[in-house]
Amino acid sequence: MNAAQRASYDRDGFVVLPDFLSGTDCDALQSRAAELVSGFDPGPTRTIFSTRDQGHARDRYFLESGGAVRFFFEEAAPEALNKIGHALHDLDPVFDRVSRQPRLAALAREIGLARPLLLQSMYIFKSPGIGGEVGWHQDATYLHTTPVTVTGFWFALDDADRENGCLLALPGAHRGPLRRRFRRAGEAMVTDELNATPWPTVGPVPIEVRRGSLVVLHGLLPHASSANRSSRPRHAYTLHLIDGRASYDADNWLQRPDLPLRGFA
Ligand code: FE2
Repeated sequence: MNAAQRASYDRDGFVVLPDFLSGTDCDALQSRAAELVSGFDPGPTRTIFSTRDQGHARDRYFLESGGAVRFFFEEAAPEALNKIGHALHDLDPVFDRVSRQPRLAALAREIGLARPLLLQSMYIFKSPGIGGEVGWHQDATYLHTTPVTVTGFWFALDDADRENGCLLALPGAHRGPLRRRFRRAGEAMVTDELNATPWPTVGPVPIEVRRGSLVVLHGLLPHASSANRSSRPRHAYTLHLIDGRASYDADNWLQRPDLPLRGFA
């Protein structure tokens, strides 16, 4: 980051770094995701997601995905994939290579993650006319450390704009408190209300970016995205990092008992 980018990250809680990923890297992630999809048999997973009495199996499919490569469908359109998650960066060589390039390690250091750990990855499809909205949230709700260190790296693999459901953010609102925590309670998941402070009334800003851009998101920044109402896809790849110096909550949904977290090495 240059000085202006650094200042805007501190002020707004996010910053756009254009042309961070090469076209070749974007192509590599998109073709690898297409290969993973073509090798995926949706039958068993679809059963888990469609049958009413499969709630327990569905929870397990999700809870165990932190150390796996699993496929998730759109809630409103069960024939369409929503995303692949959540350990692509450790289990797939193409995602591993792109996620561990030296420029990303340097960026993590600049942001202040002294012992960066690559915690979670997602390949998000947001298909034309199908990809649903993602409501307002803070990433620290889902991936909590004490103190809060989670940082999101959001890579645009297609141009993202208001029509196809780009990110929306509330600039500066990362200085507010964490509102909610989503956590494990035994085999189930619960959401605790921590703080009732409403989101600031400053208007949300759309983060319209070109393919290859990286959006860095502070873990307390409220953000969202609209549905894809266009005829164009809006693929994105996201990585979430934490600092290994912070303590990782034992009741976070994402646990990797059989796959230790790694940094950039
Ligand atoms: Fe998020």
